[in-house]
Amino acid sequence: MSNNLIPILKIGELEAKVPIVQGGMGVGISMSNLSSAVANAGGIGVISSAEIGMIEPDFNLHPKKASIKALRKEIRKARSMTNGIIGVNIMVAMSDFNEMAIVSLEEGVDILFIGAGLLLKNPLNLVKDKNLKTKIVPIVSSARAFETIFKYWARHYNRIPDAVVVEGPKAGGHLGFKEEQIDNPDYKLEKIVPEVIASAKVYEKKFNKSIPVIPAGGIYTGEDIYKFIKMGASGVQMATRFVATYECDASEKFKEAYVNCKKEDITIIKSPVGMPGRAIKNRFLENVRNGITKPFKCTWQCLKGCNYRSAPYCITQALVNAQKGNLDDGFAFAGSNAYRINKIVSVQELIDELIDGYSQAASKFN
Ligand SMILES: Cc1cc2nc3c(=O)[nH]c(=O)nc-3n(C[C@H](O)[C@H](O)[C@H](O)COP(=O)(O)O)c2cc1C
Repeated sequence: MSNNLIPILKIGELEAKVPIVQGGMGVGISMSNLSSAVANAGGIGVISSAEIGMIEPDFNLHPKKASIKALRKEIRKARSMTNGIIGVNIMVAMSDFNEMAIVSLEEGVDILFIGAGLLLKNPLNLVKDKNLKTKIVPIVSSARAFETIFKYWARHYNRIPDAVVVEGPKAGGHLGFKEEQIDNPDYKLEKIVPEVIASAKVYEKKFNKSIPVIPAGGIYTGEDIYKFIKMGASGVQMATRFVATYECDASEKFKEAYVNCKKEDITIIKSPVGMPGRAIKNRFLENVRNGITKPFKCTWQCLKGCNYRSAPYCITQALVNAQKGNLDDGFAFAGSNAYRINKIVSVQELIDELIDGYSQAASKFN
């Protein structure tokens, strides 16, 4: 029976009783409330730093300062609500990447998940610090990206990251794939994960250190988790399902968009940042598709790659509006399986369902 139990996820000396990382969700979707609930349920809770300053009154005047203040507050708040594992998700593509990394380290978060770009020289010199307690976990979309990061770290810092998240094309939000790759079976998560595991083995041997591989994107049931653990993964990262929880930091309207959407509503958009993204169709996105623009003044280029002079709308503003429930002037990012959600549950109920589903799959297939 014991081999039907869900395994723990170890990243260095950190041990999560439940091998589920709640994926960081900007803007304002995963903050202290959701992350602490996940950590209390035994998983790894993750605060997204993306434009987190939206919760501060001076966000429009001093967006960078507001985000520094808000991230610090949210980390402390999460810590006050749980003794579990708390991480922060920061994106290389953001202009305030360094500031967000520094705050996270100063606050001693357990794990920094680093996505949307290759983690090479950044952040600052932190990768050189061998005594750093905070674990560093890059998010990659291919074995090639894994190789680039690990090779660079090995050569320049004589150390390697502590784990890796492999995000496939079924994820929500901005995707690390070209539009034509999204439905191409060569880029399926089930195809990429074994390739990353194979590359990770080489570095595990070289550095005598285990590199947990954590797949993400479209993982929905306990049986899905079982499938990836069987494949050699150490845990999974899930985001979409955590939106439909009472504890999620988004407005009720945002959560309802998940509960009410149908399969045909899940769409791929061309984000003003120049990357494809997955979202739930609505009138705002229809208007954008039909060439209707929402003129705006950019106060600071929050995303390095944003072509704000020709962008049809401000992505930050649209996502902030959606987080607050104003979906007429924004839209909800979502994973490919969002349409399967039909009710809002508590984080504990969701985790219990996933653990149960895992055990059932394990007893069926073992
Ligand atoms: C609403 C939403 C916002 C997201 N925001 C971010 C983000 O700010 N940074 C990031 O690295 N990933 C982001 N993601 C991706 C998730 O962290 C996660 O890896 C992915 O959605 C997993 O797939 P799933 O949603 O099918 O479980 C976001 C996903 C969603 C649904």
